[in-house]
Amino acid sequence: MIKPIFVLAEAALETIPDEIRNDRTVVRYCKKKRKNACEVLLDQSYHHKAILKLKDYEKRGRPDITHLSLLEATCIPLYFENRLKVYVHTIGDKIIEIGENVRLPRVYERFVGLIEKLYSKNVIVSSNKVLLRLYNGTLKDLIAKLKPSIVIGLSRLGKESNLKNVALFGLKYERPIFIVGGFAKGTFKDENKLLMDHIFSISKYSLDAHIVVARLLYEIEKNWI
Ligand SMILES: C[S@@+](CC[C@H](N)C(=O)[O-])C[C@H]1O[C@@H](n2cnc3c(N)ncnc32)[C@H](O)[C@@H]1O
Repeated sequence: MIKPIFVLAEAALETIPDEIRNDRTVVRYCKKKRKNACEVLLDQSYHHKAILKLKDYEKRGRPDITHLSLLEATCIPLYFENRLKVYVHTIGDKIIEIGENVRLPRVYERFVGLIEKLYSKNVIVSSNKVLLRLYNGTLKDLIAKLKPSIVIGLSRLGKESNLKNVALFGLKYERPIFIVGGFAKGTFKDENKLLMDHIFSISKYSLDAHIVVARLLYEIEKNWI
């Protein structure tokens, strides 16, 4: 049976990295939240200046992208009916596995609270069911574990196509992985691009990740016979 897998990759989701833990604004922010920096998510809205000191700063500190993308992926019939598996791979090489029938918080602050708890406990359980699990791993590790029949990436810089054709192409395979970048600017790292069998562009515009996720998954839902 066909079981597509959706991966949000290189997601701009991480706790405050060591390099900026002593930054004045970061220290003040953590004090206000009464948490250690390692328990607080890096967020452009609050740590903008400090983020500029980080390598690849344009691809860091946007948990809202993961929030919106995961809502698009988990609030649809495809997911309710357990016909889609969902993962997040983060810029810091962590993997988040989304369990079945997970209802993520709609409110951003609550989502942040949940993910901060996940980073400190590595697992979120409710009624004896694992909702979210966090572990170390590169995108290559994740793909090796999932053993897909094909890996399809989406990027503005890919081969021109449209989402219907991308969905139909992937659905010819039993275990297709569809990868969308969970960052605001830039492109996938070369080492991750090399893991993709095909990279498709679906518009001349650079679209927000959650728009691509919503449209892609809708095409998969519609065209899955
Ligand atoms: C905001 S974009 C990242 C910016 C990047 N310059 C780009 O256009 O691919 C986030 C993700 O959405 C997807 N995306 C955005 N625009 C796309 C397009 N025109 N074609 C295919 N995927 C796109 C890609 O997976 C990308 O990594």
